[in-house]
Amino acid sequence: MKRNFGKSGIKTGPLGLGCWAIGGLFTLDGIPDGWGNVDDQESILAIQTAIEMGVTFFDTADAYGVGHSEEVLGRAIQGKRDQVVVATKFGYTNNEATKEVFGKYDVSPEYVRYACERSLQRLGTDYIDLYQIHVGKLNDDEISSVIVTLDDLVQEGKIRSYGWSTWDMSLAEQFAVQSSGAAIQHSLNVLHDDPHMVEICEQREMVSINNSPLAMGLLSGKFNANSILSEDDVRGSSHEWVRYFKNGKPIPEFLEQLEAVKEILTSSDRTTVQGALAWIWGRSAVTLPVPGFKTRKQVAELAGAVEKGALTASQMQEIDRILERSQITVM
Ligand SMILES: NC(=O)c1ccc[n+]([C@@H]2O[C@H](COP(=O)([O-])OP(=O)(O)OC[C@H]3O[C@@H](n4cnc5c(N)ncnc54)[C@H](OP(=O)(O)O)[C@@H]3O)[C@@H](O)[C@H]2O)c1
Repeated sequence: MKRNFGKSGIKTGPLGLGCWAIGGLFTLDGIPDGWGNVDDQESILAIQTAIEMGVTFFDTADAYGVGHSEEVLGRAIQGKRDQVVVATKFGYTNNEATKEVFGKYDVSPEYVRYACERSLQRLGTDYIDLYQIHVGKLNDDEISSVIVTLDDLVQEGKIRSYGWSTWDMSLAEQFAVQSSGAAIQHSLNVLHDDPHMVEICEQREMVSINNSPLAMGLLSGKFNANSILSEDDVRGSSHEWVRYFKNGKPIPEFLEQLEAVKEILTSSDRTTVQGALAWIWGRSAVTLPVPGFKTRKQVAELAGAVEKGALTASQMQEIDRILERSQITVM
């Protein structure tokens, strides 16, 4: 179950970890954009547990915790740099220098170079394996310009390869055609399929990095209709893009959908979380889920999913049938 990042020579296993939650408590313009309090020492031990268990791909961003996530990841991988693949993102200017500005972005060559240097410092490394555009929508001129900048950074050895975090299929396709990018990051989980984006990645030989693979934790099965998320947790915020929670509560329709497919997800001795990852691996051989985490215990459960492998084609079809989705051929 190896994943190949284009011509960069980077190879990883089928599971990574997402480092947004370990960015900790932070707000932008008074609205929570983090996952509440975290214990940095526990985050570091959790990352080291992952590496020991063979999970070596870490996805972060300069925006997570306005740089704190990158710093914590950097501390965790000191002395282990050659064992890990570090992916980070740039483009939003809500970094530590400009934290009062929310939702603004900059992909000019000057800004990208500045952001890259700051990420390298925070990560305590002299190269980034995968440098991803964080801004999901750009115009044609911005796309052309940022590709030139990224190619230059590859030539200079600051980054090994690059990708785009976008939900927009036509932009992903355009990026794949125009660039030598190795990955598209997009949302994918059993409650939110995106077969066409996965297909683009398959056809263009790019890795499909899957964010929110646990539907922001809802797929752990630990929430019910009475659960209330804390106000300092992004899931308890009023952001429109928080898909699975509203007014600080899990959306009942998603809880019902999870209940309907839980028996299949938990087949072969899997926990619900492990079943959610198994569904993603059942979707395609290019998918690479990056579930978030805060503790060693969560990481051990996530990493334990790898040996249990993907759901079978018939289980995938049965889930589509239960959720009333059209059948999709599994490759
Ligand atoms: N635009 C973008 O580029 C973008 C957008 C979103 C996410 N991402 C990336 O994708 C990563 C993951 O997505 P996500 O953060 O939205 O959420 P997710 O992976 O769907 O859910 C992660 C959350 O689930 C809970 N969890 C994890 N393991 C668990 C376990 N074993 N048992 C019970 N609960 C568990 C934890 O939250 P609690 O313990 O607090 O409940 C954890 O923070 C992010 O860290 C980030 O790297 C990128």
